[in-house]
Amino acid sequence: MKLFTELVSDKVSDAFEKAGFDREYGTVSSSKRPDLCEFQCNGCMALAKKEKKNPMEIAEAVVSFLSEETEVFSKVEAAKPGFINISVTEKFISEYINNMWNADKFGYESDSEGRKTIIDYGGANVAKPLHVGHLRSAVIGESIKRMYKFAGADIVADVHLGDWGLQMGLIIEQLRTDKPDLVYFDSEYKGEYPKEPPFTLDELEQIYPKASARSKEDKEFLAKAQDTTLRLQNGDRAYTAIWNHIMALSKADLKKNYDNLDVSFDVWKGESDAQPFINAMLKDFEDRGIAYESEGALVVDISEDTDRKELPPCIVRKSDGAALYATSDLATIIDREQTYNPKEYIYVADKRQELHFTQVFRTAKKAGLVSEDTSLRFLGFGTMNGKDGKPFKTRAGGVMRLEYLIEDIKTAVADKMRENNRLSEDEINETAGIVGLAALKYGDLSNQATRDYIFDIDRFTSFEGNTGPYILYTVVRIKSILEKAGYNRGSDSVIGPAFTDKEKELELKLSGFSGVFAESFKELAPHKICQFMYEAADIFNGFYHDTNILNESDEYIKNSRLALLAFTKDVLTACLDMLAIKCPDKM
Ligand code: ARG
Repeated sequence: MKLFTELVSDKVSDAFEKAGFDREYGTVSSSKRPDLCEFQCNGCMALAKKEKKNPMEIAEAVVSFLSEETEVFSKVEAAKPGFINISVTEKFISEYINNMWNADKFGYESDSEGRKTIIDYGGANVAKPLHVGHLRSAVIGESIKRMYKFAGADIVADVHLGDWGLQMGLIIEQLRTDKPDLVYFDSEYKGEYPKEPPFTLDELEQIYPKASARSKEDKEFLAKAQDTTLRLQNGDRAYTAIWNHIMALSKADLKKNYDNLDVSFDVWKGESDAQPFINAMLKDFEDRGIAYESEGALVVDISEDTDRKELPPCIVRKSDGAALYATSDLATIIDREQTYNPKEYIYVADKRQELHFTQVFRTAKKAGLVSEDTSLRFLGFGTMNGKDGKPFKTRAGGVMRLEYLIEDIKTAVADKMRENNRLSEDEINETAGIVGLAALKYGDLSNQATRDYIFDIDRFTSFEGNTGPYILYTVVRIKSILEKAGYNRGSDSVIGPAFTDKEKELELKLSGFSGVFAESFKELAPHKICQFMYEAADIFNGFYHDTNILNESDEYIKNSRLALLAFTKDVLTACLDMLAIKCPDKM
């Protein structure tokens, strides 16, 4: 379906043509002065300049043709210095709304149907504590993935675990100190290694911080861990066996964490999966002269003439022969090309990794790992800070335990629910978790991703203002009205022409869905969907406050309003679903 503004623009362009002018000046946009009109056309000013005419005269000529279209326009007027102010009829907008309701995806027309896309988000590091950046990556990435699905893209989500780094060598070496008798450390041992891990998840979680702290003091220990990491990467049998245990325990735990967040992945690959591609890739880079040696390291120049500041080369092999973060991301691209051959890659990671991704993207293009028209996109996000302006920590301090964070929010929401006194204790227990997650996710997604933001539990869990609970409360309110009315959408459900200004305002807002979605999708900007939901919810609540619904005596008006409510709920629910926010039945 065409966007509503496009439909209006078409009509206005017709009038330009009838008045003897070029159609292209007839484009309209939503009004900057909603108190005066619903849409505005600014084309007369530009046209007047070009034709050296008086803009007001042009506007008046166009308006005289527009005035004939009484089915479409309820009000058209020329306003100084040459605007055309436009309002549409109740009938014209309600017909559009009904068409949206009957269409698939509310009439959104995608140009990305079937587009093969890889999204790389989550990015937790195995056996290392999660930090707030991982939470943001999961929440933002999941919503981008769902937006792509809505647009019909063929998107594959890969968690891309950090599972191949120094933490592995550190853990293995600490284990050697703590439990030297394990068979893994017996160089004579030739048999099968045990199926059971030599540690519990709890123990594993203790080992890394201990080893990491020790490596900062003990240079020898650090060197040993580095060597062990390299040996693991080269396929050492004993270390690989330990690594498999670490992976199994840690992955199960991470899955649980992501499940709790309603975040899911199609593929659970990691940096380790890039290893088989690395040597051949580096040799190929050298053979073709893409990479060259510099101070013992192997590097690729990536600077371009148009760069405003000089960008350092991409180091693909250190002087000690070790691979780096960039090496593994490049080799992962080779793997992904072979498996999926995507048209687009999206990486969701901390914005401080921007240089890294610029280096990787440029190297990938320069070396022809991807084709010229493959789109490589980095969505870099800012930091979630605490009220003290420093990166957020949970009440337990130090390490972020997602469980605690979720628990804290749930408690805050449950307290608010008790204050509101609408639900029983059982119902509170059932819904506080859902609403808490909504508060957390909406608090994150409603900010432009690149910005830092302050995690403010009081604000995020408030039932008023631009918050998750406010949006949910609006949807729950609609659900409850529809339930009370026993309303079910049938083939004869129609949203009639609006009877009040508020009703019309709501219809006009909802008519913008496809335009807002298209923009958020193109710009990877979930916050625009949040803003749309908030505005729609706010208008809805104003409408609800001022208007009879359940006790409206005219059956036709009542049914029309219930239909509008159902449509509002459908649109808001689709938006929430894109943000991976669930909605309870009661609140
Ligand atoms: N594991 C990384 C980190 O914790 C994030 C991974 C992002 N994805 C990637 N392909 N580099 O910072």
